[in-house]
This record gives sequence, structure tokens and C-alpha cells, in this order.
Amino acid sequence: MSSYKALAFTLQVFLLLVVRLQSSMATIPPVLCPPPPPPSQPTMYVVYSPSITAANGTVPPNATRVPVAGIQGMPFNLKQFGTVFVIDDNITATPDPTTVIGVIQGTITVTSFDGSYIQFSVTFIFNSGPYANATLVVLGATDGRLTTLTAPVVGGTNAFLYATGFVTAEILYSQGSLTLEKITIVYKIRP
Ligand SMILES: *[C@@H]1O[C@H](CO)[C@@H](O)[C@H](O)[C@H]1NC(C)=O
Ligand SMILES: *[C@@H]1O[C@H](CO)[C@@H](O)[C@H](O)[C@H]1NC(C)=O
Ligand SMILES: *[C@@H]1O[C@H](CO)[C@@H](O)[C@H](O)[C@H]1NC(C)=O
Ligand SMILES: *[C@@H]1O[C@H](CO)[C@@H](O)[C@H](O)[C@H]1NC(C)=O
Repeated sequence: MSSYKALAFTLQVFLLLVVRLQSSMATIPPVLCPPPPPPSQPTMYVVYSPSITAANGTVPPNATRVPVAGIQGMPFNLKQFGTVFVIDDNITATPDPTTVIGVIQGTITVTSFDGSYIQFSVTFIFNSGPYANATLVVLGATDGRLTTLTAPVVGGTNAFLYATGFVTAEILYSQGSLTLEKITIVYKIRP
């Protein structure tokens, strides 16, 4: 083969490859981002939480909500602006305080001058039950004078990964420092 023929042959092969490549490219659909899956349906999960609140200078030995800071000279309680409580309340599967499935840990701060609104910044930590090993983060200010408090769910881990929604906490029983709340968690998983 002369060098001219060799060149012509190489060119032919090259063109053939280009045509093949173009035709195979034509069959590849354009790359588009898949649409996000729709959010899950709302799921409801009801738990209970007994708590023992320390206030006004008295700290019961089994207290789960203890004021750690506040305005000097004012009583430290859930109605006094500026009071910060650290909490470690049990979560129970039923109103029976022995059916413990986790804890609620974080802070509650009285954020209204008139003592009406309190800010929750807490994590629900589940160690047994259907949500074992999952955590749920609840954050928001709510009117503490109501018997049912509502606060947003802003996220979580494991079974609660990408969870958004809200919780309501209804006081079922309150006597002295002891309170029993029914907590309803309503959430969707948003991928
Ligand atoms: C603390 O005192 C306030 C009034 O200053 C009262 O409303 C509240 O119930 C008291 N809290 C406890 C746990 O005794
Ligand atoms: C908390 O402790 C007090 C006094 O030690 C006791 O009377 C009360 O029964 C305890 N409450 C709970 C729920 O453990
Ligand atoms: C919280 O649960 C633990 C067991 O996990 C128990 O020892 C403790 O008494 C409970 N606290 C209250 C206030 O119910
Ligand atoms: C929770 O974690 C423990 C230990 O890491 C594991 O044995 C258990 O299977 C986990 N449970 C769930 C529901 O993921």
C-alpha cells in the first residue's frame, strides 16, 4: 500500500468510527436530574414523658429539669424570663413511668419578658422500641401557658433522617414538681 492509500484507509476508518460514535451517542438520552421522590405520608408516633421540675430553689433528688441560670435576684422557674433549664426527661411507651424507651435532653429557656413563651432546644434519643437508635431534634419557642405545646421537628438521625414535622406535648397530669406529658410526633421524611 502506498502511503496515500494508507492515509485514505485510516481516514475511512476514522470517519466510520465518528459515524458509529455519533449514531450511538444519538441513542443516549440527555442526562437530566431525576425528579425528587415525593415526601412520605405524615407518620404519627405517640410517646409519654414524665418529668420532675426543680424550681424556686428546691431541687428534688430525682429532678429531670433543673434551672442552671437566670436573672440574679429573681426566682428560677418556668415563668421567669431568662431562666435556663437543662433537661433529661425519660420517654416512655405508655403512661407507666417504667416503660422507658429513651430520653429528651437539651435546654428550655424562658424567652418572653412576661414569661409566656419558652424556647425548646431538645433532642429525643430513642434506645428501644420501633425507633431504637434514632434521634429527633425539636426546636422552637412556644406559649408555655397553654396545656398543649407545639414545636417544630427540624431533623433527626437513623429512622428520623430527613424528618420534618412537629410535636405536640399535652399535659395529662401535673402535681407539684411532677408532670406527665403525652407527646405526639407527626413527621414526614423528605429525601
Ligand atoms: C415556683 O414559683 C412560682 C411563683 O413564683 C410558681 O408559679 C411555680 O408553680 C413554682 N414552681 C414550683 C415547681 O414550685
Ligand atoms: C422523686 O423523689 C421523691 C423524694 O425522694 C419521691 O417522693 C418521689 O416518689 C420520686 N418520684 C419519682 C417519679 O421517682
Ligand atoms: C428514668 O428512667 C430510669 C431508667 O431508665 C429510671 O431509673 C429513673 O427513675 C427514671 N426517672 C424518672 C424521673 O422517672
Ligand atoms: C440499635 O443499635 C444496636 C447496637 O448498635 C443494635 O444492636 C440494634 O440492632 C439497633 N437497633 C435498630 C432498631 O436499629
